[in-house]
Amino acid sequence: MLLTHSLVLGLASFALASREPIPVKRVAHESRRSLPSGWSPVRRAEPDVILPLSVGLAQSNLENLEAYLLDVAHPDSPHYSKHWTPKEVATAFRPSAESYDAVREWLVEDGSIDAGRIVLSKSGNWIMANVTVAEAERLLGTQYFVYEHAEDGREHVACHGTYHLPETVSKHVDLITPTLHFDVKVRRHGSSDKMSAAKNVGSVGFGAAPKIDGGVLHDIFPDLEHCDETITLACLRVLYDFVYEPLAANKNSIGVVEYTPQSHNPSDFDIFFGNYSKDQVGERPTLISIDGGALTPGGDLGESSLDLQYVLGLVGKKQEVLLYQTGDAIESGSFNNLLDGLDGSYCTFEGGDDPSQDGVYPDPNPGGFKGPEDCGDKPTAYVISTSYGYQEADLTPAYMQRQCEEYGKLSLTGITFVYSSGDAGVAGFDGSCLTDDGQQVLGASRFNPTFPGGCPYVTSVGATQVVPGHKVTDRESAVFQRFPSGGGFSNIFARPDFQKSAVAGYLEKFPPPYAPGVFNTTGRAFPDVAANGLNYSVAINGQFRLVSGTSASAPTFASILSAINDARLAIGKKPVGWVNPALYTPSFALAFNDIVNGSNPGCGTNGFAAKPGWDPVSGLGTPNFLKLLPHFLLLP
Ligand SMILES: *[C@@H]1O[C@H](CO)[C@@H](O)[C@H](O)[C@H]1NC(C)=O
Ligand SMILES: *[C@@H]1O[C@H](CO)[C@@H](O)[C@H](O)[C@H]1NC(C)=O
Ligand SMILES: *[C@@H]1O[C@H](CO)[C@@H](O)[C@H](O)[C@H]1NC(C)=O
Ligand SMILES: *[C@@H]1O[C@H](CO)[C@@H](O)[C@H](O)[C@H]1NC(C)=O
Ligand SMILES: *[C@@H]1O[C@H](CO)[C@@H](O)[C@H](O)[C@H]1NC(C)=O
Repeated sequence: MLLTHSLVLGLASFALASREPIPVKRVAHESRRSLPSGWSPVRRAEPDVILPLSVGLAQSNLENLEAYLLDVAHPDSPHYSKHWTPKEVATAFRPSAESYDAVREWLVEDGSIDAGRIVLSKSGNWIMANVTVAEAERLLGTQYFVYEHAEDGREHVACHGTYHLPETVSKHVDLITPTLHFDVKVRRHGSSDKMSAAKNVGSVGFGAAPKIDGGVLHDIFPDLEHCDETITLACLRVLYDFVYEPLAANKNSIGVVEYTPQSHNPSDFDIFFGNYSKDQVGERPTLISIDGGALTPGGDLGESSLDLQYVLGLVGKKQEVLLYQTGDAIESGSFNNLLDGLDGSYCTFEGGDDPSQDGVYPDPNPGGFKGPEDCGDKPTAYVISTSYGYQEADLTPAYMQRQCEEYGKLSLTGITFVYSSGDAGVAGFDGSCLTDDGQQVLGASRFNPTFPGGCPYVTSVGATQVVPGHKVTDRESAVFQRFPSGGGFSNIFARPDFQKSAVAGYLEKFPPPYAPGVFNTTGRAFPDVAANGLNYSVAINGQFRLVSGTSASAPTFASILSAINDARLAIGKKPVGWVNPALYTPSFALAFNDIVNGSNPGCGTNGFAAKPGWDPVSGLGTPNFLKLLPHFLLLP
């Protein structure tokens, strides 16, 4: 409290001392409502420090993105699954020459930046110039501070509150870096080790409730009698009627994303397969290294072992699984590093990523990755599963919008992005909730949604569990042991058409008992679907441990989608791509096991209740593969 107060006073006096604004009509371009937890300003940035200023040009045609996507992803569309080539996507959204000219003219005329200092990125999306803090403050009508992280003293230069642009320039710009953004290292959902907290001190949110059970070996249950204690491949197959033998494995593809230092021990696959899927002993994922990503001996093994053992086991022996291992062991990476690697038109090159938060490559540190940053040179997979996330309140709206649109653009080419919905119910990872002005605080009352669950172009997966004492064939409940499933309503993304009727149905029939403002009644609601997330039997360093989280649910759902893609590819059809509009159509929704028990508590409340039909705890429910498959096979 005291700190916040003195900060406000400090800023007021700085504002008085700052120089006259330059005389053009400016508008606020981006604002930050709260600082990511742990960071506070310690001093003004030195005026002569050099910033790699990057101006993200507004892409063309983004207003048509959703319509383009619906054209290839809505089951009623005659063009269903007629996906675009990456080149068609890049061309359709490339910024216009008009935008380029407007920004360049602003830098040269208003900013007195010599034209020779201005560079256009290869992708045509970013204009870059090295400028001093003084020049940036003048151009952007803002003030730069050095922020320090409370846990490890790491410093980060960012501007305070808001930055401004001339009205005529603002419409040509998506966002400018480095400004407000703290693109904090992404967090895993679930399964956190003690080790990770020690290695990643400073990565906000690390060290959230560990969800690997104590060091004891648990019994190996190869049967179906103990699915209420330990989840195995066999339990998941029965829960979701998931029996499938790949027919088009050489055409199909699925990838799992991991952020270094999350890693796995390859010999654990054989212990896992030796007990649960004997004919897969010896199988390994195919490593796709992004920005120096590699297995790190001594890294954290919970997340990667869980994700990879279950995806490999569920898609079966014949299907190759790509492992997108992102970031080197020193800097690690963020969602931007992955997206840069997958899409050359998204790359931000030397200036775009946030140098003290994103992995920026080449990495000058000893032992760091010395190669150039990966840019559109990595293979894409039809289904890409990620069990990491942020809170929306950690990031700025423009930053999230740009990243979300990128998921949409990549989905136009036939990719499905599957994300875990979070493991803290309606609260943030660390239990924090939002104050009326958007600060993340323990004990605040507004719900604190995760990112990118609120992005309509990803499929968000919540968690269920078998109720103790129940059989594997009994209906599951929303998870209530160990952690509550992440879910709720975005404060950033408006509700997309595909879920309007499902969500309105829930809000009308089962109105949540909350005052206005506790959750955003117009926001995109998540999760979309759910799958079991409790007590997965995972081999970690030679021992079986029980691992829990929506981290487990996302790879399970992704594996089922991958089998649907295989079946479509086998009969000459295309993969499903952006799958949400299909899943929410009423006939498809009947192919889910409706989850009607449990809730997702947080922020001192019970959160939302799981109810018949879609709900913001378990989405449409858990998949029934054998029922979903014919629906997708009948589509063009
Ligand atoms: C900015 O400076 C760095 C370091 O000297 C250099 O590598 C980079 O190319 C410069 N960027 C621009 C846009 O001039
Ligand atoms: C999950 O594991 C914990 C710890 O072993 C146990 O207490 C709990 O009953 C298990 N629950 C289910 C549903 O598997
Ligand atoms: C099954 O798991 C145990 C560890 O619990 C391991 O020692 C054993 O080798 C595994 N079995 C096979 C056949 O791999
Ligand atoms: C609620 O969500 C909408 C998007 O649907 C957004 O424009 C609005 O700012 C949000 N309200 C709050 C209080 O965050
Ligand atoms: C319903 O969920 C509650 C926890 O919210 C749990 O105690 C109960 O066992 C569940 N019952 C069924 C039938 O799923």
